[in-house]
Amino acid sequence: MTETQKSATLTLNGENYELPIFSPTAGPDVVDIRKLYAQAGVFTYDPGFTSTASCDSTITYIDGDKGELLHRGYPIDQLASKSHYLEVCYLLLYGELPTAAQLEDFETRVTRHTMVHEQMHNFFRGFRRDAHPMATLVGVVGAMSAFYHDSLDVTDPWQREVAAVRLIAKLPTIAAMAYKYSIGQPFVYPRNDLDYAANFLHMCFSVPAEEYHVNPILSRAMDRILTLHADHEQNASTSTVRLASSSGANPFACIAAGIACLWGPAHGGANQACLEMLKEIGTVDRIPEYIARAKDKNDPFRLMGFGHRVYKNTDPRATVLKQSADEVLELLGVDDNPLLQVAKELEQTALNDPYFIEKKLFPNVDFYSGIILEAMGFPTSMFTPIFALSRTVGWISQWKEMIADPQNKIGRPRQLYLGETMRDYIDIEQR
Ligand code: CMC
Repeated sequence: MTETQKSATLTLNGENYELPIFSPTAGPDVVDIRKLYAQAGVFTYDPGFTSTASCDSTITYIDGDKGELLHRGYPIDQLASKSHYLEVCYLLLYGELPTAAQLEDFETRVTRHTMVHEQMHNFFRGFRRDAHPMATLVGVVGAMSAFYHDSLDVTDPWQREVAAVRLIAKLPTIAAMAYKYSIGQPFVYPRNDLDYAANFLHMCFSVPAEEYHVNPILSRAMDRILTLHADHEQNASTSTVRLASSSGANPFACIAAGIACLWGPAHGGANQACLEMLKEIGTVDRIPEYIARAKDKNDPFRLMGFGHRVYKNTDPRATVLKQSADEVLELLGVDDNPLLQVAKELEQTALNDPYFIEKKLFPNVDFYSGIILEAMGFPTSMFTPIFALSRTVGWISQWKEMIADPQNKIGRPRQLYLGETMRDYIDIEQR
């Protein structure tokens, strides 16, 4: 982080305060207000962090105006077409693309950690069968801290490394177990001869009663979905992981916190909500009704899978996924999928509507991912768990970066207090 010669001057009650300015390698300059309260006795106010950088980071960069997403400098469309999920995991975690030997070693380490502690099978059985798989995921990932005592010490770099690999390796197993449990089928153990995405499909869709062959088209599409969701800088769930870990909490507890945050419909839960919305719309002729509802200030309805805090032009992940949806559905012989038709028409209608143009609302990553996942055979309740398992590497990379940062201190926002000032307690008989 380089402090520039530039500074901002804040004038308050006739006093001037010089605030240093930092220049990033990309993106807008950042005004450093860390000493503002000590010097001027005021806080800044920024609910939702619309103008506040909560950390410095070298992992992911988004240019929302250009619709650009870079991981360690590499554009997401290149990674989606030329790379694969575990290579992107390596890149996010360690900062550089791996050599062939480094990749082989990393893949071996991840593959050797895919099984979960056998006793976890019993733990699953405590959940109701009809539990949402995200509910199970939050609980089981948090409970990993009760099973893996040798990777809880966040001050030990080796334990941090083991926890990172364990989480990346075991999340697909846990997500698949949550799914199997919800449909009353036996858990399927991971297979080390399959790649990461194919193994996940195998654990979700195979049954002991017969052979299951993973369709390579589907495993490639699955891998691409995982790659596109791997990281997204300081979004709500990543910031949750960072905030949770700022207190020194163990990595499994922190990732469980991230999963909980991801679940909401404004964040990772939007993929499930979007597909449900497309089904509710059902036919192209009903689109105007839903567009009108989305524009109506008195109606809480929003177009799910539309809009983004940072992207104000296009979400590059949505562009890749739209193409992927076409390819996958064609290859599966369902290219006349009515949901895809509704989605495409809805997108076109919204993109030509002054409301969406003016507010710079574009399809986001969640708009097309659900169509692909459903075509693969996943129920909507599994969409957000799949997002969670792919984002785990992003959370872990940001967590590792934060813990290694000497500036790391407990996250503790201030507030603009608008409540009562001090008053005397009134006995109940007098109220
Ligand atoms: N449909 C209709 N209007 C919208 C939408 C939408 N999807 N998104 C934003 N707006 C309007 C909103 O009503 C507001 O209007 P006004 O200025 O008149 O009050 C304006 O656009 C700005 O919206 P905001 O809520 O202040 O913007 P934000 O940056 O706080 O929210 C968002 C971003 C993603 C939460 C929001 O666009 C949204 O709720 N989208 C639908 C849910 C969704 O698809 N979420 C997935 C996001 S991408 C993946 C992920 O993060 O996990």
